[in-house]
Amino acid sequence: MQPYLIAPSILSADFARLGEDTAKVLAAGADVVHFDVMDNHYVPNLTMGPMVCQALRDYGITAPIDVHLMVEPVDALVPQFAEAGASIISFHPEASRHVDRTLQLIRQQGCEAGLVFNPATPLHVLEHVLDKVDLVLLMSVNPGFGGQSFIPATLDKLKQARRIIDQSGRPIRLEIDGGVKTDNIAEIAAAGADMFVAGSAIFNSADYQATISAMRAELAK
Ligand code: DX5
Ligand code: ZN
Repeated sequence: MQPYLIAPSILSADFARLGEDTAKVLAAGADVVHFDVMDNHYVPNLTMGPMVCQALRDYGITAPIDVHLMVEPVDALVPQFAEAGASIISFHPEASRHVDRTLQLIRQQGCEAGLVFNPATPLHVLEHVLDKVDLVLLMSVNPGFGGQSFIPATLDKLKQARRIIDQSGRPIRLEIDGGVKTDNIAEIAAAGADMFVAGSAIFNSADYQATISAMRAELAK
């Protein structure tokens, strides 16, 4: 596995020029496109659906698209996002009545499957589905909005998730989402994360390449 992946959240991109801005952040050195789907039901905000994912593919985006579903219910959207070009599909266990079934559905659709844990959600469902999970995503803010501050207690939770993953011996990614900045990414990596979502830190910066390089320099320390 590539040691560290940087996944800009296009929630903070310019929605009026989404294809262009996504291509720009990838050309600046990003590894993965993080695609936040909000339904005004599971979270109090409304963003984009499968048609937008398809539009990015049609525009020529070939990088992996990491779809973060903040929706309830989950299952009906899984085939739609797989069809629209998603590479990874993650969901919140509270939002699916049958977590094991949803994980299986994601893999059956040819995507990698991820489980997302809110700041106050314990990790214990994970131990029962480690064989069906390709990625664990820890929220370091409450989901729904970009630009919030990193919740420090997430560092201990990352260490706990890292232990569970290492003990499983499986190649499961540990992604962190919310409030990731150049000045805290090293500490977050030290706690066990290997995939970093960053929305406002990258898209609100004047020079995407400089910001991503600065993050990689922190990770190399
Ligand atoms: C929040 C989303 C995040 C968000 C992160 O619900 O899941 O992906 O875009 O934004 P920043 O990096 O600005 O905290
Ligand atoms: Zn997200």
